Amino acid sequence: QPSTTFFELVGGEPTFRKLVDEFYAGVATDPVLRPMYPEEDLGPAADRLRLFLMQYWGGPNTYSSQRGHPRLRMRHAPFRIGAVERDAWLHHMRRAVDRLDLSPEASAALWDYLERAAYFMVNVMEDP
Ligand code: HEM
Repeated sequence: QPSTTFFELVGGEPTFRKLVDEFYAGVATDPVLRPMYPEEDLGPAADRLRLFLMQYWGGPNTYSSQRGHPRLRMRHAPFRIGAVERDAWLHHMRRAVDRLDLSPEASAALWDYLERAAYFMVNVMEDP
């Protein structure tokens, strides 16, 4: 029988929608992150992040049919992402993950990925 994906295990699209909506509610008020978003309306950016995460965790491939190969580091190249931006992003994501009712194992797996991905997205070198 087909194995259950992480996407299904954590509750499918509603869970990812909640995660990303909570995250963007934080971004909307963040003095570091908000100015980085080119569009007035954060809704389309939220849709892109949600669809990407759903696809990454074994859900529908809607992200790639709309946007092509993720190439996330390349897509973030226009934005200056240093430690401050990374940590602000992770701060809002941590709060969003904590508002989901996931098992400790699922929560840890999700967080581990998000944290590693955020470190990977840093694209400026800074003095310590
Ligand atoms: C797009 C910032 C990390 C996934 C964007 C955009 C900004 C941004 C400003 C453009 C908004 C848009 O038009 O979509 C940041 C910052 C990060 C970060 C400051 C700090 C480390 C991440 C991580 C992921 C991610 C870790 C994935 C786990 C995405 C996706 C898009 C996006 C999927 C849309 C790409 C597209 O299809 O055009 N990000 N991001 N970002 N980000 Fe991030």
